[in-house]
Amino acid sequence: MKVAVLKGGRSLERQVSLRSGARVQDALERLGHSVVPIDVGSDLVDQLAAAAPDVAFIALHGRDGEDGTVQELLEAMGIPYTGSGVSACIRAADKVLAKHAMRDRGIPTPDFYSFSETAFEALGAAQALPAIEDRLEFPIVVKPATQGSALGIKFARTPADVPQALVAAFSYDRKVLLERHVAGRDLAVSILEEDREEGSRRPRALPVVEAVPQQEDFYDFESRYEIGRTRFVCPAELDEPVAVRASELALEVYSLLGCRGFARVDLMLDSSGEGLYVLEADTTPGLTETSLLPQAADAAGIGFDELIERVLAAV
Ligand SMILES: Nc1ncnc2c1ncn2[C@@H]1O[C@H](COP(=O)(O)OP(=O)(O)O)[C@@H](O)[C@H]1O
Ligand SMILES: [Mg+2]
Repeated sequence: MKVAVLKGGRSLERQVSLRSGARVQDALERLGHSVVPIDVGSDLVDQLAAAAPDVAFIALHGRDGEDGTVQELLEAMGIPYTGSGVSACIRAADKVLAKHAMRDRGIPTPDFYSFSETAFEALGAAQALPAIEDRLEFPIVVKPATQGSALGIKFARTPADVPQALVAAFSYDRKVLLERHVAGRDLAVSILEEDREEGSRRPRALPVVEAVPQQEDFYDFESRYEIGRTRFVCPAELDEPVAVRASELALEVYSLLGCRGFARVDLMLDSSGEGLYVLEADTTPGLTETSLLPQAADAAGIGFDELIERVLAAV
């Protein structure tokens, strides 16, 4: 097959995407496909028209690549593509939409309130903050609605921290959420569809991965994501029922949002060791050497090339 690998783009995660893309290209070549790499920019439509691929492999992260925009263009051009369709991408990329859908379905997600810039500018939302702070309790997690960069996320410890955290989050998006903090362990469950008989596919949860910060930087959250400061354990050391429950929740979220092919669901396990809360779903998870999905696949005995072949087969 002729496969266009879409990578790069203008998002904050451009560098990660270039790494994912390069790895995907190598795997596709080993699998015998003909590969057309495309660094996504203002000439995307022209490039796709010129390449006329059988399928597009989306190795983009963050805005545009993950929020349904590129998917919509591919739909318009009649080019099949890997991963979730437009509507699942739109719902997953917006944490507020995803969390409302989860809450409506009874899937546990930390309590939250969400506001647009307009609510603060034109409706006096700041006056509602004390009531929100009472309900959510400190520390409160403040984050931009659209996923892509952990940089916009701040933990506010006191009422005085909230305005600053909101300004930081609003610099990434026009909609933000204030969320109840869950003290505990950071888990991720990747989902991959597997072939069944008669050409049908079924999503399967891969082993749970735990991200363990190397230093107890509770408030200094960003530093947890610097290279070498987080250790990944896969499969995570969990009691069997907790691991099973985390996988079930991830599969429920996958189907709730209408994901396809593959995805990753992030959860927190609270300090009681029993309460699981879904934070978000990621429809184009990272595919670099250190990314969570390839690690989880590896733990399940699925090598990188096989992983890529399966993602392609689910198109
Ligand atoms: N409500 C929360 N309670 C505790 N930690 C959180 C909470 N929300 C986010 N975090 C921390 O921030 C990380 C990133 O948050 P997440 O919602 O997954 O956004 P993204 O990965 O899109 O930046 C999580 O993996 C977790 O470590
Ligand atoms: Mg996350």
